Amino acid sequence: MKTNALGKYRPYLHFAPQKNWMNDPNGLIFFEGEYHLFYQYHPNSSVWGPMHWGHAVSKDLIDWEELDIALYPDEHGMIFSGSAVVDWENTTGFFPNVPGLVAIFTYHLNGEAEEEITQTQGIAYSNDRGRTWVKYEGNPVIASESKVDFRDPKVFWNKEAKNWMMVLATGQTISFYSSPNLIDWKFESEFGEGIGLHTGVWECPDLFQLQVTDMNEKKWVLLVSVGDNPEFETGSQTQYFVGEFDGRTFKPDHDTIHLLDFGKDNYAGVSFSDIPQIDGRRIYLGWMSNWRYANEVPTNGWRSQMTLPRELSLQKIGREYYVNQLPVKEIESYFSIDSAIDSEVSYENGTRTYPVGNPFVDCSINIERVNAQQFEVTVNHSKDESTKIAIDYNTSVVRLVRKDSGVIDFSSNFIDDQLVKVGNINELNLRIIIDSSSIELFINEGQYALTSLVYPDHACESISFSSIDGSVVLRDGYIAKPSEDHLNE
Ligand code: FRU
Repeated sequence: MKTNALGKYRPYLHFAPQKNWMNDPNGLIFFEGEYHLFYQYHPNSSVWGPMHWGHAVSKDLIDWEELDIALYPDEHGMIFSGSAVVDWENTTGFFPNVPGLVAIFTYHLNGEAEEEITQTQGIAYSNDRGRTWVKYEGNPVIASESKVDFRDPKVFWNKEAKNWMMVLATGQTISFYSSPNLIDWKFESEFGEGIGLHTGVWECPDLFQLQVTDMNEKKWVLLVSVGDNPEFETGSQTQYFVGEFDGRTFKPDHDTIHLLDFGKDNYAGVSFSDIPQIDGRRIYLGWMSNWRYANEVPTNGWRSQMTLPRELSLQKIGREYYVNQLPVKEIESYFSIDSAIDSEVSYENGTRTYPVGNPFVDCSINIERVNAQQFEVTVNHSKDESTKIAIDYNTSVVRLVRKDSGVIDFSSNFIDDQLVKVGNINELNLRIIIDSSSIELFINEGQYALTSLVYPDHACESISFSSIDGSVVLRDGYIAKPSEDHLNE
């Protein structure tokens, strides 16, 4: 087995910076054959500090090459989160010859006194595929109004209205702005008061349209991350709304709370801009951490990693619409099937263990309950370390238990179980992607996602399946190991 030369806990399949601190993904965009991942970055320390935009590029969304820092703080402040677009029609006037990239981001300025914080929106442009950037001389392009929290612009071209739209987090609401040229912005509307989850400040919004699976219908999805608040157990998490957007205002179809992920470790995620129409996917990735303990996780010299990029889709169940997510198909070439998990196997109060011993794993099983009260998948990281995924048939809850998963004592909150209540628990598909320090669980083809960090000595020595008080049948499952190409890289 290849040893991870880059240091303990460093992921193989997930992006992590070589050194120092990272948080939110920023400026996700596809341009001229490359995916760009910019990110909140502190180049001088492995804890949060003055924010820059770090930069990496990839041809396949999995294998990333880290490049030089893209944006540095200046007299207007640190560079907080934001987005990027291709200005195809030269609406800005920055690209008289060929189209280029524009980054739209928040400037965060600390005044003399601690309470004197100003957040404004700035732009910068690049003529060389994102390698170097020129800040617009008229920055900031949107000055903060009365709100202190005024950040994380996500911009897209609205085809119908033929203008740019910005969604901006403004305290515990989302504000919508429009512009003909990315420079002059007009306030359109504000959404969020009295609806959704308000346990913390709203951050990192995204707005996009998705086709409803198997239906002749499209809906708008508004993602909103909700910041950590010590008064609540959950830490930071992400919610979404599904509804209509008429180019000026957003109206949700529901007043229920929808969480994007039931694990603790998926925050501030947004989607890629300018994915070619012929591809047509809505690809998303999040920061795989939680503000509750992000600065304390036990990595050395580097901190934080992103989730796997995921393809989003929308499913109508009953009268409501739900976002589904699955890892992008590009990860398939990183795996080859190792063990097929036999169909028609039942476990009468038994445990069956499959040896693995690989640095990263993709496992999928279909579980049909016969009469078991519980079923457990145990990821045995090493002799003494394991993470359990437990299905409780009486409560319809799937629970990820990481209390024995390795190092957990850096935060009192890390030990808590993570759980999701699922519909139709008697027939489940679990897809489990294990990397050096994470487990991403996708239930029923991505209907529910649960993303969780773990800090074991090894990724996975073996996987066990146990049924408790009765039996289940496993069908068409597999455990996939790294493909030869990727194991020997
Ligand atoms: C979300 C966030 C953003 C902000 C950035 C600062 O994690 O708090 O709202 O722009 O991080 O690094």
